Amino acid sequence: MTPPNHTSPETRAVQALQEIDAATGAVVPGIQPASTFARDADYLPRGGYVYSRDTSPTVEHAERIIASLEDGAAALLFGSGLAACTALFETVPAGKRIAAPRVMYHGAQDWLVRLRDERGIGVDWFDAADISTIEQAVRPGETALLWLETPVNPNWDVIDIAAAARIGHAAGALVAVDGTCASPVTTQALALGADLVFHSATKYLNGHSDLTAGVLVTKVEDERWRELSWLRKHMGGVLGAFEAWLLIRGLRTLYLRFERASASALAIARHLEGHSKIARVLYPGLESHPQHDVARRQMSRGFGGMLSILVAGGAEEAKRIASSTRLFLPATSLGGVESLIEHRKAVEGPHSIVPDNLIRISVGIEAVEDLVADLDQALAQ
Ligand SMILES: Cc1ncc(COP(=O)(O)O)c(C=O)c1O
Repeated sequence: MTPPNHTSPETRAVQALQEIDAATGAVVPGIQPASTFARDADYLPRGGYVYSRDTSPTVEHAERIIASLEDGAAALLFGSGLAACTALFETVPAGKRIAAPRVMYHGAQDWLVRLRDERGIGVDWFDAADISTIEQAVRPGETALLWLETPVNPNWDVIDIAAAARIGHAAGALVAVDGTCASPVTTQALALGADLVFHSATKYLNGHSDLTAGVLVTKVEDERWRELSWLRKHMGGVLGAFEAWLLIRGLRTLYLRFERASASALAIARHLEGHSKIARVLYPGLESHPQHDVARRQMSRGFGGMLSILVAGGAEEAKRIASSTRLFLPATSLGGVESLIEHRKAVEGPHSIVPDNLIRISVGIEAVEDLVADLDQALAQ
């Protein structure tokens, strides 16, 4: 059974595309953990599967759900978000260039620096808050990949995907979006003009902080997509069946979780804005956010659960606050049901250009009044 095309994405997510076991009537999707699959007398695979490093049924089921939520042609799941990013970066030939935000998820940026320093790939940084700098960074005929991240980690600048995609395409570049912190709930990057959308499925897609996974979704199944599939197989980057099954389970509540986290994050951002110990609150849902208009257009169902605060008292005070909460756990990651807090510069290391008074907050789905009270007591200490 597959759900009718007109169903809403959350219905398709909740029902896992209705791909359940017809023989037993189980309402929960099954798991197929086999690493290898039998062949027939002609040595052809009996059921279309050969070996699970290539692909396997439960992984494909999770991929079909995510491709459907993004309205994409196909998806590829990897063992972590970075495994998916690096497979895509690997498709850029030596001598070509990549344009990317100057502030972005630092792990992916470390790879770009490595490609620049050791692989002969040019990298041009732009300011995510200023679309004209994308125009300058993208070089016609030379830029092979325009890498966007929105909202961008950890200052939550919002990039206008449609405008950036027009610039990238005019220069002949592939346009890919790291949509981890927006999730398909609120931003449809492919519909806005991107060729590929990426998510660290470790975050909102799974939402329970109990697996690592990454996914690429494509608008069209072209030559590059086949190369990505080949790379995943030969780099051995595929997600395991158990994790794919857990991910399917997490996806069933994605829309509920994301909308709750967004509503709580907006309430917390509004509560903290103007607090005497806080210099600035960075959150796309605030009217004071410099790209709030773009965010309103591009984030149709909430501004997400991620926000940052710049502490008035500087780095030491920021570290003190980030370790004084009782409900927000001091841990790296985001998009889970439990709220997390971290002093970002301490996590990214001394080379990071993130301000040292920045605290990053991932708002979970606990009672918002408890979260507000916890931040208030940490700030008051
Ligand atoms: C925006 C963003 N992109 C990519 C990644 C990398 O994903 P993973 O940790 O699943 O490898 C992360 C992880 O924190 C992230 O926040």
